[in-house]
Amino acid sequence: MKERIEALKAEFDRVLSDAKKLDEAEKIRVAYLGKKGSVTELLKMLQNVSNEEKKELGQHINLLKKHAEARIAERLEEIKKAETEALVSSAKKYDVTLPVSEISGSYSPITLVQREVEEIFASMGFTIEDFSEIVNDYECFESLNIPKNHPARDTHDTYYLDNGQVLKTHTSAAQNHIMRKYGPPLRAIFPGRCFRNESIDASHENTFFQLEGMMIDKNISISNLIYFMKSMLSEVFERDVKVRLRPGFFPFVEPGFELDISCLICGGEGCPSCKNSGWLELCPCGMIHPRVLEMGGIDPEEYTGFAFGLGLTRLAMMKYGIKDIRDFNSGSLKTLSQFKHI
Ligand code: DAH
Repeated sequence: MKERIEALKAEFDRVLSDAKKLDEAEKIRVAYLGKKGSVTELLKMLQNVSNEEKKELGQHINLLKKHAEARIAERLEEIKKAETEALVSSAKKYDVTLPVSEISGSYSPITLVQREVEEIFASMGFTIEDFSEIVNDYECFESLNIPKNHPARDTHDTYYLDNGQVLKTHTSAAQNHIMRKYGPPLRAIFPGRCFRNESIDASHENTFFQLEGMMIDKNISISNLIYFMKSMLSEVFERDVKVRLRPGFFPFVEPGFELDISCLICGGEGCPSCKNSGWLELCPCGMIHPRVLEMGGIDPEEYTGFAFGLGLTRLAMMKYGIKDIRDFNSGSLKTLSQFKHI
């Protein structure tokens, strides 16, 4: 019987090492250790041997049982590990060093428009500035001639933080910092993400992008403002656009304007898109208020300048004919993947 035990052990080891799948190992466990398994059968056979032999053989069979249980547990782990490794090595590899053209993906339409506008302004001598999304009350309001309790604050549905800081409600919040950083003369644009506590619908979002610009020098006038805006917009829309200014109120510019462009759909004839007016409202702007220049450390007697706040999100909607502003932050690949990289 001793030989039988040894033979069974050798057979078990061989069969188990051939098992390549979890269910095969499980079947082997049942075949050897289950109620009717070979090892269990051996134990039953002990009834037929003498008491002396019973003790010794019993020990041997129990050792075999322990050995079989331990080996099966080990084998199950080995198989699991091998299966995971096979899965990993067969998976499609994502190579971060691949050139952009080889990975399928696309830029957000806002990024595309932003880069285009940046390139145009850079070619006209403007620097491109970055500014934080969390700003303080002075940057967002006070330095822009919007003191506490001024009704103009009501138009910005602001997210205030517990420490008194705010999520930037407009890119104008960087004006003071940039004036102090460079001093006059300066030409700068500063794109950025802005936040307002808006109720969201097809044309309102609580998170949107603006691109602000400032030019400060001696003798800057509204003609300079019109020239730069017209040149930039004609390039963005790849056609000669007409612009017009209407009066608009913003505490940080004097005079302030709403800049309209001739309707891109009907060319100014009048159509449903422009409510038959022939014009589309695009960008508020104006001559920088002397107090704002002063707070930026610039002498308003010597220097003047213009500023504008282009709605980048709105521009992207117009350029690509996107009807619902919610598409931008939806993460919808169907919408976003249409915009291939430049
Ligand atoms: N910051 C204003 C807003 O978001 C837009 C604006 C108006 C910016 C006039 C300007 C400007 O630079 O001159 O409502």
